[in-house]
Amino acid sequence: MPRALIIGGTGLVGRAAARRLLDTGWSVDVTGRDASHLPSAIADTTFTTADRDDAAALRRALGGGVDLLVDCLCYTPAQARLLLPLMDDVGSTVMISSKAVYVDDHGNHTNSPVAPHFNGPVTETQPTMTAGDGDFQTREGYGANKVAAENLLLDSGAPVTVLRPSKIHGAGALRPREWVFVKRALDRRPAVFLAARGAGTDHTTAAVNLAALIEAVAAHPGRRILNSADPDAPSALEISRAIAHALGHTWTEVLLDETDGNALGAHPWEARYPIVLDMTAAATIGYVPVGDYATTVVDEVDWLVQQVKPAGTGDGAGGVRLPAGLDADFFDGYFDYPREDRYLADHHPDADAG
Ligand SMILES: NC(=O)c1ccc[n+]([C@@H]2O[C@H](COP(=O)([O-])OP(=O)(O)OC[C@H]3O[C@@H](n4cnc5c(N)ncnc54)[C@H](OP(=O)(O)O)[C@@H]3O)[C@@H](O)[C@H]2O)c1
Repeated sequence: MPRALIIGGTGLVGRAAARRLLDTGWSVDVTGRDASHLPSAIADTTFTTADRDDAAALRRALGGGVDLLVDCLCYTPAQARLLLPLMDDVGSTVMISSKAVYVDDHGNHTNSPVAPHFNGPVTETQPTMTAGDGDFQTREGYGANKVAAENLLLDSGAPVTVLRPSKIHGAGALRPREWVFVKRALDRRPAVFLAARGAGTDHTTAAVNLAALIEAVAAHPGRRILNSADPDAPSALEISRAIAHALGHTWTEVLLDETDGNALGAHPWEARYPIVLDMTAAATIGYVPVGDYATTVVDEVDWLVQQVKPAGTGDGAGGVRLPAGLDADFFDGYFDYPREDRYLADHHPDADAG
């Protein structure tokens, strides 16, 4: 039985990858800092406590070697360097990077103050940010460090595949962006508000599609870079509709012309120009996506719903709450219901006020 080790295997990407590999005949080990975070969905993996920056712990987790190493926690060149001594005992490696590395003709990227404007779907040959090694937890540092980590691993000459996902959705997300629509559907809100008329497209990546690509890479090891995104690239309006449909809710769509992120109708997929990843290269190694956005987003929606009170009961004036342990701060400002109600009373007096 082939064996895989997933570094950071209890999170959003790790759990989807583990489940996919287990279901296709692999034995899977995962690392993290806390065994109690091992999701029941992947209880049939072996968990090892290993801090990402602890070389000895990584070596212990590797044991006698693995056919596949998946690193979900490679953010810096220093972290990439820690993998190099392990490579002799690894059949092939997958490093999870990000589409945040890509720059447009003016050097703008998805974390720039100025929105990037790509000339169509972005392929893996698109220029990237310059490699850097400052603080990776800054808007400029995130992509620059990812580039440096990618380069270091690819330059090693080992069979390393770098995967560049976009906005990932799935069960286990610390920051489940879809909550902006899931919550308002569970709260049975009469309307959804969408800035820039919901036209924004920032490509989605289902964790299960990324996992399918990891499995395809495992079957075809190689030194390369591949994008990872859903077969469709839904707009925010399409995302809101997919979620309302999944939760059996209907609402009035209030499409606003404002594009200011602080305006009513803000959502996490705002993009001044479409950000779409080209998925041609992945197909050449036999990757077949599990499904489109509307099909795959159900995983995350169900996972969220299982953790909150049943739809319709609400939880005080603010409605249902984000499940414990998730990044509540991220959602500050997305649910100004009193302001929405005032807008509806002024502009859509026919909308059911809930
Ligand atoms: N999420 C996105 O939309 C997105 C988009 C593009 C690229 N990416 C990339 O995808 C990769 C995976 O992201 P993710 O969303 O799956 O992350 P995640 O859900 O936060 O999962 C992180 C995992 O690593 C463990 N962990 C965290 N810090 C650790 C440390 N210092 N030492 C050991 N284990 C640690 C966590 O478990 P414990 O907390 O229990 O340790 C968990 O298993 C990242 O490299 C990210 O750059 C993500």
